[in-house]
Parts: sequence; structure tokens; C-alpha cells
Amino acid sequence: MKLKDRVSIVTGGGSGLGRSMSVNLAKEGSKVVVADMNLESADETVEMIKENGGEASSVEVDVTNQEQIDHVVQFTLDTYGSIDVLCNNAGIGGAAEKLLDVPTESWDKVLNVDLKSLFLMTKAVLPTMLKQEKGVIINTASASGLLASNAGIEYTSAKHGVIGFTKQVAFEYGHDGIRSVAVAPGVIETPLTEEAGMTGPGGIFHDLTMNAPAGRYGKPDEIGKVVAFLASDDASFINGTTVPVEGGSSIY
Ligand SMILES: NC(=O)c1ccc[n+]([C@@H]2O[C@H](COP(=O)([O-])OP(=O)(O)OC[C@H]3O[C@@H](n4cnc5c(N)ncnc54)[C@H](O)[C@@H]3O)[C@@H](O)[C@H]2O)c1
Repeated sequence: MKLKDRVSIVTGGGSGLGRSMSVNLAKEGSKVVVADMNLESADETVEMIKENGGEASSVEVDVTNQEQIDHVVQFTLDTYGSIDVLCNNAGIGGAAEKLLDVPTESWDKVLNVDLKSLFLMTKAVLPTMLKQEKGVIINTASASGLLASNAGIEYTSAKHGVIGFTKQVAFEYGHDGIRSVAVAPGVIETPLTEEAGMTGPGGIFHDLTMNAPAGRYGKPDEIGKVVAFLASDDASFINGTTVPVEGGSSIY
């Protein structure tokens, strides 16, 4: 129970990696606010946590909407009294086309959901963490934040931005008790990758994944468990950096 009495917010907690993060944070004793634009799936995550004996609540949020973000923060403080961990995880894929074929609207949408949301969510949560003189912000980057790939210009740019954002927050607030870290998952089997046809033979990342040392896709729990570790005091000397969790696919 490394996170006993801590309070975590997980955006995109209704599915895939965010669901696993929520469940694994709760397993370590954290109370979890599962924040997602799909309230039904957030409710399902909360049920899973409660079935394991944990404590959690769901709240509907679009992470690009300032008013709804403010509501999540207020809801968390009213319900649990503090915010110790923020997982900026909600994200979407891009058009996965080359630059000239990417509509500007698609660029704006992906950058808003995958990068601007970190600025908005972190800005909303930081004052509470600074008052507490401690807090952990964990951002979901991607192996596409480390490499150029078939993921396309919007996603690759956004996820490189996530890694820069992570460093800069540590640089600005690390001296005030804030840890800011990122995980960079490889291809993990979730609704996002399955719906985009990324996994399986013919998928845009199939060869890259199969040729990597692990030679397989990852599972959501392989990310959720790392995030629970990063949120805990066991990771107290880790700040401003990104942990690749990609079966070795980014070593080439
Ligand atoms: N699955 C992978 O292989 C993989 C690899 C690297 C990085 N990632 C990143 O991990 C994160 C989660 O991806 P996933 O695979 O679990 O996807 P997913 O589609 O299974 O889950 C994403 C969740 O985010 C929610 N969401 C989407 N837009 C939102 C918004 N504007 N506001 C609030 N909630 C929103 C969705 O409702 C969904 O519940 C994303 O940031 C993604 O870029 C995923």
C-alpha cells in the first residue's frame, strides 16, 4: 500500500492505459478520481476498483475544456480533500498521414487533446500541490515522443511536446516538491490501437514492434504498474525524465 491516503486524478481513466493506471494506483491504496469524457466507461473503471476493495469516483471531463477541468479539480478537493497525483493520460491518435495530407483541423485537434490539455490540467492542479508542498504529475507520452514513425506529424509532435513539458515543469517547480515525469509506452493493446488498426499483421507498427527485443505488443498493466511506482515515494529521486516502456522498440 505505497499510496495509502493519497488522492490521484487520472484523465482518460475509462479505457486502456488510463484504466490500468487507475486500478493500479488504487491497488496501492490511492483514492482515484477517474476523469473521462466517456462517463459510462469511467463508471466501469470505478466499479472495477470498488470490486477490489478500493475507493474511487468518476467525473465527466473534456480535457480541452477549462470549465470542466475546474470542475474536476473542485470535485476532487470536495470529495477527498487533496490532490497528490495527476495522470495526464487522455489522448487520441492523429491522421497518421504525411504532413501535406494532414488537415489543419486535425493538427489543432490532436495538439489540443494530446498537449494543450497537459497545460490546462497541470495549471489547474499545481496550486493545490504547491500548497501541500508535494505532488506528482505523470504524463503519458509515447515512443512517438522519442522517434519519428508512421504515427504521423501531429501525434509525433504532440508527444515530443509532452516530454518537453514534463522536463520544464520539473525545472520550474521541482524545487517546490513537485515531481514531473512521463512514461513513453510502445504499442500497447488498447481500444485506441485496435480501432486504428495498428496492432496485428499489416498494422502500421506491426513490423517495428515484432522486430524489437520484446517481439510483442505490450499490455495495459505493464504501463499501469510503472505509473503506480512513479507515483510512489519509491520513485522519490526520479524527476523531469521520461521512462520508456516499449519492449526496447526505441533503441534503434
Ligand atoms: N495504446 C498505445 O499503444 C499507446 C502507446 C503510446 C501512448 N499511448 C497514449 O496513452 C494514452 C491512452 O491511450 P489508450 O491507448 O489507453 O487509448 P484509449 O482510446 O483506450 O483510451 C483513451 C481514453 O481517453 C478518453 N479521452 C479521449 N479524449 C478525451 C478528452 N478530450 N477528454 C477526456 N477524455 C478523453 C477516451 O474517452 C478514452 O477513455 C494516450 O495519451 C495515448 O496517446 C497509447
